[in-house]
Amino acid sequence: MNIKEIISQMTLEEKAGLCSGLDFWHTKPVERLGVRSVMVSDGPHGLRKQDQKADHLGMNDSIKAVCMPAACATAASFDRELIGRMGQAIGDSCQHEQLSVVLGPAVNIKRSPLCGRNFEYLSEDPYLAGEMAAAYINGVQSRNVGTSIKHFAANDQEHRRMSSSSNADERTLREIYFPAFETAVKKAQPWTVMCSYNKINGVYASQNHWLLTEVLRSEWGFEGYVMSDWGAVSDRVPGLAAGLDLEMPSSGGVNDRKIVAAVRSGELDEAVLDRAVERILTVNERYLANAKPETPWDQEADHLLSARIAGECMVLLKNEGVLPLDKKDAVAFIGEFAAKPRFQGGGSSHINCFKTTSALEAAQGLNVTYAQGYSVAADEAADESIAEAVEAAKAAKVAVVFAGLPDSYESEGYDRTSMAMPACQNRLIEAVAAANPNTVVVLHNGSPVEMPWLSKVKAVLEAYLGGQAVGLATVRALYGDVNPSGHLAESFPIKLEDNPSYLSYGGEADEADYREGVFVGYRYYDKKRMDVAFPFGHGLSYTTFTYSDLRLSADHITDRDTLTVTVKAANTGSRPGKTVVQLYVGDKQSTVFRPVRELKGFEKVELAPGESRDVTFTLDKRAFAYWNTDLHDWHVETGEFTIEVGQSSRAIDAAATVTVTSTVKLKKHYTKDSIFMDIMADPDAMKVIRPLMDSMGQMFGGHGGESDAAHEAVTDEMGAAMVRYMPLRSMVSFSGGAVSDEMLDGMLQAMNA
Ligand code: BGC
Repeated sequence: MNIKEIISQMTLEEKAGLCSGLDFWHTKPVERLGVRSVMVSDGPHGLRKQDQKADHLGMNDSIKAVCMPAACATAASFDRELIGRMGQAIGDSCQHEQLSVVLGPAVNIKRSPLCGRNFEYLSEDPYLAGEMAAAYINGVQSRNVGTSIKHFAANDQEHRRMSSSSNADERTLREIYFPAFETAVKKAQPWTVMCSYNKINGVYASQNHWLLTEVLRSEWGFEGYVMSDWGAVSDRVPGLAAGLDLEMPSSGGVNDRKIVAAVRSGELDEAVLDRAVERILTVNERYLANAKPETPWDQEADHLLSARIAGECMVLLKNEGVLPLDKKDAVAFIGEFAAKPRFQGGGSSHINCFKTTSALEAAQGLNVTYAQGYSVAADEAADESIAEAVEAAKAAKVAVVFAGLPDSYESEGYDRTSMAMPACQNRLIEAVAAANPNTVVVLHNGSPVEMPWLSKVKAVLEAYLGGQAVGLATVRALYGDVNPSGHLAESFPIKLEDNPSYLSYGGEADEADYREGVFVGYRYYDKKRMDVAFPFGHGLSYTTFTYSDLRLSADHITDRDTLTVTVKAANTGSRPGKTVVQLYVGDKQSTVFRPVRELKGFEKVELAPGESRDVTFTLDKRAFAYWNTDLHDWHVETGEFTIEVGQSSRAIDAAATVTVTSTVKLKKHYTKDSIFMDIMADPDAMKVIRPLMDSMGQMFGGHGGESDAAHEAVTDEMGAAMVRYMPLRSMVSFSGGAVSDEMLDGMLQAMNA
């Protein structure tokens, strides 16, 4: 299909029409030219393909499909290959169902535990989110089906999501809120990007030229089309000019007519419209030319795949010798989630599962009893239910309480109001733990919860929202058929108030100021050395690992070189298992505020008992850089950096230091108000000013008249300290006429040359 040729034959109306949906899920056809309509569908952890009529908010009329673990869980796998495999399966199901694009992955940063959509998002860490997103996209797109990475950008709250402005400074956007998108574009070239509902620093994402064109296309090289989130268009014509190609869903023709009028009046260059149409048709054609509706979709096989993936995502948060369970032992499963697990979140990602497996079903044939304990429908537990659960706990060797957040607690469309679990569940856990010293808690939630009972239970297994087969995966993990290997992709603070965004999350009216800046998640907790319930990257195993023999390819590099880091990972326990080797980099001294450590590499490694293996990472400039707001670019400050390798951000096994020298000279501009401290740090500027400073010995060194040497040293130091903060102009005022305004001007000219 010659797309340019077809566009040249289209009427203005046809072209404008192609820039919005036919309905909720289809692009428009132009039949007379052979342009076909294609369908898109949510996503991202399975298909929510609308059946027949398009009811945007209806969740029940989508086709039967397979619900894989949600992003909160898959991120915890720290396993690129695994999430890529999930992407392939989803891509195959899209081919079977004739879908051109699946709407995901969703990669917004988990700024606060309160965001209602955290369960759909990957991490508080941009590096991890970017790596996992790229692997997922490559998986789906290997099947010739597109993805739509969303929601671009800084869409980190549900509260007032269609009107709120996410106000963050340039460095914070570049270091925290953009990289997941950037990495995905650079490593996986998603076919489409979905822009978010919110504004960014006052400008809607859907009409933000800087975001959609300068950053996304010119800097990162995005080649596909940008679609709007459903209903995210405020002003269509500026939006099109800004780089928003496809408005979704349909605009009922209203915005199409505005586009036509704008071209006719000369307000909008027709070339801009042609370019948008070309982008949309190119992506559609890529799917159509490779469509394979005969691709089989074996849902039973995907159910088992879903169980396998969920098993790799489980995070063993705590274990004091009680897990894994022995299949011979009497075990009480307590809590409604044991019979009816919560395994996905509410809203546009909600999947109509063809089947589910609960833990209770999966435990058939084992020595397991059940007591409901609480009802998800109620916040308060009936005394009889608790009493019944306590009896079951007393009669068993181990009590496993299945707890977490009910559907209504976290969903698309609104935020949580606290980090607490329902009171009835907390009460139940306390009662069960008092009755049986071997109490285990399994959690189903999409975001951190407070655990007031933590010290009273022996083990906690974070199962997240693990998809429709989560019950099977949970039983395998509890009994040791699967050795847990998930690690937290987010910090679990002790209480909500500890979270760095606590004071300003949600914003005032429509202004959501990101006041914590780059200090999101562990970047804040580690800097503050604050106790957390569980740190970023944490996850236990039924075996033990150590990392040692850390080797760097060099002690000194420049910012143009790469550094190879090798470490030996060993399984020192008695079971096979997988460990997540995490590499963190920290700038020892910097002129800007920086986190203590930032994740810059990770590898998941499987090791047999006693086995050890070298794990290698390659670091480039970006691993050491921060975003410099004068250069508007990444920059490395010359100096020493720590390279830490550990099993969480708080469990560092090995560390080393490397010196990185910058090859970029920052251009400074001095004025008469520049202070000596900054000038003294710049050898070139010092060359100009040194002779004058020396001739003004009085002011810059000797104080004269003092006889006591010790006293003289102290006053010298004080004098030097005072001078450090003095502006250049003080040379004129304090030199007793020796330095004139003209001399100062001449000096400044030389310094700035
Ligand atoms: C959500 C998107 C979703 C779209 C289509 C919007 O409300 O924010 O994530 O893909 O609807 O269902």
